[in-house]
Amino acid sequence: MKQTRGILDSISTSIVALDANLRVVALNAAGQTLLQTSEARCIGQHAGTLVLHCAEWLESLTHALVNSAPHASRGVSLVLVSGQEVQVDIIITPVLDGEGPFQLVVELAVVDRLLKINRDETAQHAQETSRAIIRGLAHEIKNPLGGVRGAAQLLAKELPDAELAEYTDVIIREADRLRDLVDRLLGPNRQLDPQPLNIHEIMEHVRNLITAESGNQVTIKRDYDPSLPEFACDRAQLIQAVLNIMRNALQAAAPHPDQCEIMLRSRSQRQFTVGAKLHRLVCRIDIIDNGPGIPAELLPAVFAPMVTGRADGTGLGLSIAQSIICLHGGALECDSRPGETRFTFYLPMDTRDA
Ligand SMILES: Nc1ncnc2c1ncn2[C@@H]1O[C@H](COP(=O)(O)OP(=O)(O)OP(=O)(O)O)[C@@H](O)[C@H]1O
Ligand SMILES: [Mg+2]
Repeated sequence: MKQTRGILDSISTSIVALDANLRVVALNAAGQTLLQTSEARCIGQHAGTLVLHCAEWLESLTHALVNSAPHASRGVSLVLVSGQEVQVDIIITPVLDGEGPFQLVVELAVVDRLLKINRDETAQHAQETSRAIIRGLAHEIKNPLGGVRGAAQLLAKELPDAELAEYTDVIIREADRLRDLVDRLLGPNRQLDPQPLNIHEIMEHVRNLITAESGNQVTIKRDYDPSLPEFACDRAQLIQAVLNIMRNALQAAAPHPDQCEIMLRSRSQRQFTVGAKLHRLVCRIDIIDNGPGIPAELLPAVFAPMVTGRADGTGLGLSIAQSIICLHGGALECDSRPGETRFTFYLPMDTRDA
């Protein structure tokens, strides 16, 4: 038995053995590391307690148990109790002799971040394409717009009756409004002006702006890692990105900004892949709010331009934020459910990577 245990613990695949009630009977060393728990803590616990959002996980287990048939699922995303998300291939094998306490043996093999990276890249490509179309369209609108505005100004000077200026004013005002929209559609300046900066200074700046915007009503908590070094980034553009994300949180909390709580967290992370590139050191920023969450139908396309859930929204805020983070060689991710919406961005801190 001791020998079997030794063998189990030396396997790099995570193995969970479950009884007929889906309670944990054994968990090897790799499984304890992956699921961030100890065997002592989870023996006798239901399999559903091992991960968060466990519907799909439990469904696969029940399916294998009820049908006494092996079950395999690839690239399943499991959210660990700590909130961390891992991609795994799952193989569930029923134990057919059924004598002992084991009824199911579950193998979990981490697919590292490869799958997610592919997914991110595909999504980013799709969004780049729609951004390029929108930028092209915006340019086409912008050119004649200058002419329309200029002509209206000239016309205003020639008008015989001052009262008619009301009409040229409308043309000029609407042309200006359209120009502002078109400028936002064109997105951030593609050129970065990177300076060595402390990311917390940027976060604090936006925190002050949002606090003021909310009339001092919102609660913004901070959990910063003070050891984060300075690194090269474009201050104005990053402020814009963080502001777009935090302003959404505030708008989602309306009309009760006093109940809005935003958490700002910073961490450093080693050996982290962004896009297809492995970075030695990245800065991870989480912006978490306790609002109602992003409507489920918007979530898959929330970074795409012109996707909005607000009557007066243009749906550009997150698209612009994502462009800015991407220009910095980073990535922006989002996870949302009622009561907890989390935007996470990663920025490479290794200057040689930048
Ligand atoms: N923290 C959040 N909580 C709830 N919903 C959110 C949050 N962030 C974004 N959303 C949803 O995602 C949509 C898209 O956000 P985005 O910032 O891109 O556009 P917008 O806020 O609608 O318009 P704009 O930012 O251009 O004024 C929002 O309309 C909102 O429905
Ligand atoms: Mg917005």
